[in-house]
Amino acid sequence: MSIIDIDNKFAKYFIPPNIKEAKKRGKEVVQFLDFDPIPKEMIDIGKGKYYLIRTYGCQMNSHDSETMAGILEQMGYQPTDEEDEADIILFNTCAIRENAEDKVFGELGRLKHLKLEKPHIILGVAGCMSQEEKVVNKILRSYQHVDLIFGTHNIHRLPILLRDALLNKEMVVEVWSKEGDVIEHIPKVRQDGLKAWVSIMYGCDKFCTYCIVPYTRGKERSRRPEDVISEVRELARKGYKEVTLLGQNVNAYGKDLDIDYGFGDLLEDLRKIDIPRIRFTTSHPKDFDDHLIEVLAKRGNLVEHIHLPFQSGNTEILKKMARKYTREEYLELVRKIKQAIPDVVLTTDIIVGFPGETEEQFQDTLSLVEKVGFDSAYTFIYSPREGTPAAVMEDNIPEDVKKERLQRLMDLQNQISRDKNKQLKNQVVEVLVEGVSKTNSEVLSGRTRGNKLVNFKGDPALIGQFVLVKITEPQTWTLRGELVSNAQEELLDVVN
Ligand code: SAH
Ligand code: SF4
Ligand code: F3S
Repeated sequence: MSIIDIDNKFAKYFIPPNIKEAKKRGKEVVQFLDFDPIPKEMIDIGKGKYYLIRTYGCQMNSHDSETMAGILEQMGYQPTDEEDEADIILFNTCAIRENAEDKVFGELGRLKHLKLEKPHIILGVAGCMSQEEKVVNKILRSYQHVDLIFGTHNIHRLPILLRDALLNKEMVVEVWSKEGDVIEHIPKVRQDGLKAWVSIMYGCDKFCTYCIVPYTRGKERSRRPEDVISEVRELARKGYKEVTLLGQNVNAYGKDLDIDYGFGDLLEDLRKIDIPRIRFTTSHPKDFDDHLIEVLAKRGNLVEHIHLPFQSGNTEILKKMARKYTREEYLELVRKIKQAIPDVVLTTDIIVGFPGETEEQFQDTLSLVEKVGFDSAYTFIYSPREGTPAAVMEDNIPEDVKKERLQRLMDLQNQISRDKNKQLKNQVVEVLVEGVSKTNSEVLSGRTRGNKLVNFKGDPALIGQFVLVKITEPQTWTLRGELVSNAQEELLDVVN
C-alpha cells in the first residue's frame, strides 16, 4: 500500500491497484448504501454555473457520467458543450488501452491555457485512469493545473470533493482502492428519454491477464434484484422504450448475493415489465448457462442480440489470457444459442497480437470469425497494461505484424458484416426511431432489435416511436430503407 500525502489540510489518500491484494479478494461484505443528501452549503453552489463532462471508454463510464451529471445538477449546475462557458470540466477516463490514456493526457495539456486564463475553473479527472498509481503520480507531477482527481469508487463523494477543491489551492485526490460497495439512489441525468442504461452489477472478478478492469473497478458486486427491477419499472413508467443492462460480466449477476438468483432469473422478472426492449452487455462466455439461453429464447422484449467477446480463436492463447473456456467450448455455446434463437445477431470483441501469438494461432481467430459469422466485431491490438500479468509475458511479435493481422481481421469481418446485412434486403424490420441522421437532416435514423443502424426518410414527428422499415440498400455498417408503416397495431404482429 502506498499513500500519497498531498500535504494540505484536506489531504486525501490514494491506494493504488495491487494485483496480489486484488486477487485475494474474499467475501468481504458488500455494503448497500444510500447516496448521502447533498450538504447544505453545496445545494446552490452551482446556480448560474455550467459543467462539461468529457467521457471516454465503455457504456459503464458513460453511465457514470450520467451519475456525475445528476449530482452536479442537484447542486444547481447546468450542462454546456462549450469549454469556454464551463465552470467545471470533468474528464471521465478509460484505462483499457494505452491510446485511450494518451488522448486524455493530450486534452489535459491542451486545457492548461484555459485554466491560466480562468483560474476559477475546476478541472477534474475521474474514471478508470484515476485508479492507476502511475497516472495519479503523473498528474501530480506534470499536470498541476488539475484541481481534482477521484476514482470509480468515489463518485458519490463528488459534492464533498468539489467543496474541498473550491476551498483549496492544492490538488484534491481521492481514490479508494477497495473491493467496493453498492451505492443506491444516486441522482442521474440520462442522455435521452428513449434509451436508458441500468447497471445491474459493478466490478469484475475474471482477471483476464491482459485486462485492467478488475483493478480499476473493484470486485464483482451485484445490485439487489428488487433495486434493479424497481429502476426498470420506473423507466417504463416514464416512457422509456429501451433499457440496456450493464455489467462487465452480466452473466455472473447474482453469484455474489446470498440468494439463489442469477442473470436468467433477473431477465425472467424484467421481461414481465412493460418496456418494449431490453438489451444487456457484456456477456462472458464462461457464465452463459442453459437457463439464460432458455429465457432469451422467449424473446418478447428481450431482443435477439448478444455481444459475446471471444478475444482469441486459439485455445492456448485463451489459456494464457485466462479466459476460462476453450475454442471448442465457445463454438458449442454459439451452436446452442443459434439453435434456440436462429436469427440471433452476434457481435464480439477480439484482441490480436497477444504476447507470443503465432501466425497459426492468429489464423484460428480468423477461422472462428468465419465459422460463427458475427454481424460485427470490435477489434483491438493488444496493449500492455502495467500491473497486469500479461504485461510481463514475453512478446516477440513486431508491431507491424500485429497491425497487418488487425487489417486482415478487419477485412474479413467487414466482408462478413456486408454479407450478413445483404441478407436483410427487402425484409421489413422494426426500428426504434432515435433521431435525425447525423449526415442528412431529411433522414431519420434508428435501430433494429438486433442493434443495427437504419436510415430512412420520414417525418421527425416519428422520433421516439417504433416503425416498420423495408431494407432497400444494405451496407457494411448501416442499412438504408423505406418507411413501410408506423401503425403500432401492425407492429405487434411482426415483433413476436
Ligand atoms: N468485460 C468485457 C469487456 C471489457 S473491455 C468482456 O470481458 O467482454 C472491452 C474490450 O477491450 C475487451 O473485450 C477486449 O477485447 C479489449 N481489451 C481489454 N483489455 C485490452 C488490452 N490490454 N489490450 C487490447 N484490448 C483490450
Ligand atoms: Fe476485463 Fe476479462 Fe473482466 Fe472483461 S471479463 S472486464 S476482459 S477481466
Ligand atoms: Fe475503460 Fe474502465 Fe470501461 S478501463 S472500458 S472505462 S471499465
